[in-house]
Amino acid sequence: MAQLWQGRFSKAVDSRVNDFNSSIRFDSRMFRQDINGSMAHATMLGEQGIISPEDQEAILDGLQGILTDLQEGELSIDPEAEDIHTFIEQTLTARIGDAGKRLHTGRSRNDQVALDIRLTLRDESEKILGQILDLAQSLCRQAEANLESVMPGYTHLQRAQPVTFGHQLMAYVWMLLRDAGRIQDALKRMMAYCPLGSGALAGTTYPLDRQLTASLLGFGEPCPNSLDGVSDRDFCIELCAAFATCMMHLSRLSEEIILWCSWEFRFVELDDAFTTGSSIMPQKKNPDVTELIRGKTGRVYGDLTTLLTMMKGISLAYDKDMQEDKEAMWDAIDTLSLCLTTLTPLIDTMKALPQNMRAAAAGGFINATDCADYLTKKGMPFRDAYKLTGSLVAYCIDHHTTLEALPLETYRQHSPLFEEDVYQAIDLLNCCEGRTSYGGPSKAGVQGQLQKARQEIETIRNGLEGEADIPPQNETEEEDHP
Ligand code: ARG
Repeated sequence: MAQLWQGRFSKAVDSRVNDFNSSIRFDSRMFRQDINGSMAHATMLGEQGIISPEDQEAILDGLQGILTDLQEGELSIDPEAEDIHTFIEQTLTARIGDAGKRLHTGRSRNDQVALDIRLTLRDESEKILGQILDLAQSLCRQAEANLESVMPGYTHLQRAQPVTFGHQLMAYVWMLLRDAGRIQDALKRMMAYCPLGSGALAGTTYPLDRQLTASLLGFGEPCPNSLDGVSDRDFCIELCAAFATCMMHLSRLSEEIILWCSWEFRFVELDDAFTTGSSIMPQKKNPDVTELIRGKTGRVYGDLTTLLTMMKGISLAYDKDMQEDKEAMWDAIDTLSLCLTTLTPLIDTMKALPQNMRAAAAGGFINATDCADYLTKKGMPFRDAYKLTGSLVAYCIDHHTTLEALPLETYRQHSPLFEEDVYQAIDLLNCCEGRTSYGGPSKAGVQGQLQKARQEIETIRNGLEGEADIPPQNETEEEDHP
């Protein structure tokens, strides 16, 4: 397939440069969006009288035919084409003749690609949003089943205070909901301004109606500066940062799952279908999925670094460096999507082992704060109660016992404020239930969180479904411009 830019050259381009320069391997992923963008452009050219109504119709029909044929496998993308924009324009011209050559009037591949990548990222980010919500919902289900599964909460990976498994899992739901919010924010900013009509860098002398193309394609308005329009890739960086942050959350959860399913913890058991074995050690059942998620997090950080580094030294406006944006974005999206869709069923099928959690909670004096609080409620200043409880813990360690097993006499030797009800106060489930402060681990508290999280999930989901209700752009065109 020939290049679009042949006129001024006396020699064919070196085949190595051809291969090096070509982006068809990775930009053909945007064929739908490229065609939709071209349809909006052609519609506008016709409306403005820049092309004739006959040419407009031939272009729209031709593009629709190419879209259908590509989707149905009747047409395949030429791997020798320089890029997807070249392939579609040349296929159109081969099919409809001179009208096809008029499509690119008042447009450059620079504004075209800036548009295509935005439209593609919008579509693919919405898919990611749905997958984030699926994972959040599966965590909610596990949390709901474990409202009374007392486990040690940790700081410094040292047993700290009692929480429930439900409370612990809900923490990840809130992280995921923030991730979804970050993606939505980035999409909102990305879709505020449409780059189409910026031309190569300096606009055009044709009387384009940029507001029309912007609204046909779902943008707020045309971008106000053509140089910025073609050279802005902030939205890639913002979205990739949101994806990297989400990967960081998946990685933290994965790390916990890896710990929890070790023999040292044994808080959960992963389903056989979501674990792997060892070629030599017959007893092994390995959490490879979660390890891979932890490992792949580095890849997505790498994608973000690629984008930031790609942009930091390039002059205005378009530079070919920016072609690198797509592979980094596709890798980030594909990696995150793969991790989300594998982790969700792993969480769904994961079996909690509350007895083991409870046994771990019984060691490590995680009710020591509650013991100090007990004394405080009986009138001792907290700092004194803290110190006295510390000496009780030291006593227990020396005598190989626990606060629960300590006789009342021994308690009373330390302070006469201790009475029979101390055992109630340091009972692990009571310790959780007593933590009724907003956001705490009590059953009612976590139920409240669940309700709130589920409402947020539903709101985001409804928004996504609302998007899908907007008719595809080519149908709008047909109605508006028969
Ligand atoms: N393949 C290019 C990209 O992805 C398309 C834009 C080409 N523009 C140019 N001036 N060579 O960025």
